[in-house]
Amino acid sequence: MGVRSEQSSLPAQYRRLVVLRDGGQILLRPVSRADKDAVRDMVGRLSPDTRFLRFHHYKPGLTEREIDYFCDVDQENHIALVAEMTRRGRDEIVGAGRFYRLARGDRAEVSFVVEDAEQGRGIGTVLLRSLAELARDKGVTTLVAELLYENTVMMHVFRSYDPGLRVVVNGHCYHLTFSARGPETAGDIAPGPAGEASLTDFRPP
Ligand SMILES: CC(C)(COP(=O)(O)OP(=O)(O)OC[C@H]1O[C@@H](n2cnc3c(N)ncnc32)[C@H](O)[C@@H]1OP(=O)(O)O)[C@@H](O)C(=O)NCCC(=O)NCCS
Repeated sequence: MGVRSEQSSLPAQYRRLVVLRDGGQILLRPVSRADKDAVRDMVGRLSPDTRFLRFHHYKPGLTEREIDYFCDVDQENHIALVAEMTRRGRDEIVGAGRFYRLARGDRAEVSFVVEDAEQGRGIGTVLLRSLAELARDKGVTTLVAELLYENTVMMHVFRSYDPGLRVVVNGHCYHLTFSARGPETAGDIAPGPAGEASLTDFRPP
């Protein structure tokens, strides 16, 4: 697994084999420009409901510009980890987590997706934990996310990470704020400026 990852400029510590609770294995690693085909394929395998929960509207797929934006990250303010799995003899990307640093540099917005066939195996949880670790290493202390009201699964994953997360109703979704350090700092979240996070609907520059 992982022949596509050589272009990443993040240190090797962010690349790790993870054994899932059902015994399956994934390789977690930073995304790279060489992943464009694999990311396009993964998005093509997402169900309409999974796309809706991720993008907050029924998105048919990603444009080439969006694929470029997803894979060509700067590894500092826009970082993504992918979960890669060997299936039917091929290495395939089956999930991704990313953060975008917000204007206040110690805060970042996170988002995740795991393709339908692999959901419920713990991949989303592992992606969150690893992305939070990476965020901490990059000086980010507070993570935010925009979550549709019906997204009980991701709410469960976030709450498991930080039971003290702050939840605010924000238009059509919840605005969540939680510590990048997770449970041991529950309640230790500095409030951010009003209207700070608005990046959930995917918009390449
Ligand atoms: C949300 C998502 C990323 C989670 O990934 P995942 O790999 O399925 O997550 P995990 O397997 O690590 O954890 C799922 C948890 O939800 C729990 N769960 C399952 N169905 C649930 C439900 N209806 N209500 C509440 N919790 C539920 C599982 O039991 C599991 O918890 P546990 O680890 O305590 O047993 C994935 O489901 C997904 O891609 N969804 C669509 C896109 C999306 O919602 N993205 C989030 C936007 S930020």
